[in-house]
Amino acid sequence: MLFGRTTLSKFVIEQTRGQHSEMGALLIDVAAAVKGISALVGKGALSGVAGSAAAINVQGEEQKKIDVLANEAFLRHCEWGGQLAGMASEELEEPFRIPDDYPRGRYLLVFDPLDGSSNSDVNVSVGSIFSILARSTAGAAQKPDFLRPGHEQLAAGYAIYGPATMLVLTVGTGTHGFTLDRESGNFILTHPAIRIPAATREFAINTSNERFWEPPVQRYVGECKAGSSGIRGVDFNMRWIASMVAEVHRILMRGGIFMYPRDNKDPAKPGRLRLLYEANPMAMLVEQAGGAASTGRGRILDVVPDALHQRLPVILGSREEVERLERYHHEY
Ligand code: AHG
Ligand code: MN
Ligand code: MN
Ligand code: MN
Repeated sequence: MLFGRTTLSKFVIEQTRGQHSEMGALLIDVAAAVKGISALVGKGALSGVAGSAAAINVQGEEQKKIDVLANEAFLRHCEWGGQLAGMASEELEEPFRIPDDYPRGRYLLVFDPLDGSSNSDVNVSVGSIFSILARSTAGAAQKPDFLRPGHEQLAAGYAIYGPATMLVLTVGTGTHGFTLDRESGNFILTHPAIRIPAATREFAINTSNERFWEPPVQRYVGECKAGSSGIRGVDFNMRWIASMVAEVHRILMRGGIFMYPRDNKDPAKPGRLRLLYEANPMAMLVEQAGGAASTGRGRILDVVPDALHQRLPVILGSREEVERLERYHHEY
């Protein structure tokens, strides 16, 4: 029954034929990595890898064993193929150097191997996020090679390990969703050309941080919460899963606005989420689906990075609501 449907391999080979055929091969390796992570996450408590790895990553976060294993999955599946000049990961302080016994190519792969890892031990959806950039020369990539604005991304995507595993991808020609057929091991195109509705009545934010937000965000969320008795005149619903992948996936499926804004909880951090492997790939996917992605003060994809693990405020989803909150920032 599934024969004749479009597999991820067919899709990426057709979409990247010509100028970026090597990127097609790389995307197939990324898909192999996320299938491995999906199998591990899908075992739940039976995997025997719950809990902490007793290490702290460069972000100052406690690494889970599953963060470390998912990072290994990306490195081992993608290091040998000859397409990459280097990789960078949430879990590695410095860029990963492609071992000298493998050929190198011109692409850069940046990833969050396991997103929402605080949810992994409680059987709630988690995911992986990735971004692909190119550099003009081959050879081993250095840190500055990765510090490119998001509008230069050639491809971006995430995998969500939910009731079904899905891979959602853009190569700059729309945002497309593939569902893992666990029997055949293929990702099958099930959600071609996803579109985010411009209007929404659903918002997602960690309201426990409300007292730390800037006034424009307090104003916006206050108006949503006031619902039909406030100036919006309509009731809003709220969701918070604490996995960015799951939040963005819900928004791609039915609209909504997701916010992890700037706050003054920790003055050293101008936001929670990381530009290169969380904000940029999600911003490209959302824009390619007709939505918007902003820091509140400008387009995420135009931010020029100055550090590998740089953080920034993230506001993304249905266009009308993102634009309204941007307006509140400008009026402030
Ligand atoms: P990660 O697990 O990759 O470190 O990312 C977690 C992020 C993101 O997925 C989510 O939006 C956010 O952290 C959750 O933050 P709170 O703990 O404040 O809810
Ligand atoms: Mn983390
Ligand atoms: Mn993350
Ligand atoms: Mn992570």
